[in-house]
Amino acid sequence: MIKLAPSVLGADFSRLGEDIKSADSAGADWLHLDIMDGHFVPNISFGPSIVKTINKLSDTYLDVHLMLSEPEMYFEPFIDAGADAITFHIEIHPDPTDLLLRLKNMGVAAGLSLNPDTSAERVLPFLKHCDLLLVMSVFPGFGGQSFIESALKSVSTARKYIDDNNLSTLVSVDGGINPDNAQRVVDAGADILVMGSSFFKSKERKEIADKVHILKRNNINIKE
Ligand code: DX5
Ligand code: ZN
Repeated sequence: MIKLAPSVLGADFSRLGEDIKSADSAGADWLHLDIMDGHFVPNISFGPSIVKTINKLSDTYLDVHLMLSEPEMYFEPFIDAGADAITFHIEIHPDPTDLLLRLKNMGVAAGLSLNPDTSAERVLPFLKHCDLLLVMSVFPGFGGQSFIESALKSVSTARKYIDDNNLSTLVSVDGGINPDNAQRVVDAGADILVMGSSFFKSKERKEIADKVHILKRNNINIKE
């Protein structure tokens, strides 16, 4: 089943508790938590104390996306706060193997993310150490941006490598996803769809989750 991971960055922070509960009751599989340092990306979001609050509000799997220049400094605080998966960016490290193994040793799922202008080939050698690959379909830093179509090529390249090598890495896609483009993202090879604004701005949250859950992958080729 394709999983839905609403991005809490798209929630209304003045009613965070209600929005988290409504994501849970709509059938969200994971909650995606975007952490920004104002350095790796030109924006600042929230830190471990908010993650801890969200962990108290929900039993849902917490998928923490670190958009940080020095992610390893924050592995422990976010794990202590309740992270179940931690993803950091390939762009900050030529060889992320040690950091991925460190995360696994700390008892969480380990993920790598790549920006839309980073070649998918950069991450392929490390996928054997990854529980999760997060392909960005917008430039990270802000919610509510338009989906970048060329990201689908990275999704399908990663999907093919994972399948050809019998890896169990899950492919998640993040940025500009909505119920209208979700099928194409799944066809390219996604297992998990992150949705921020399209999910939290909608009142039909259960319908969105239901729609994601019944998506099936058609084998289509993504054009270069
Ligand atoms: C962007 C974040 C995304 C974002 C997705 O930096 O990594 O997770 O919140 O939001 P939408 O779905 O609105 O593009
Ligand atoms: Zn994200």
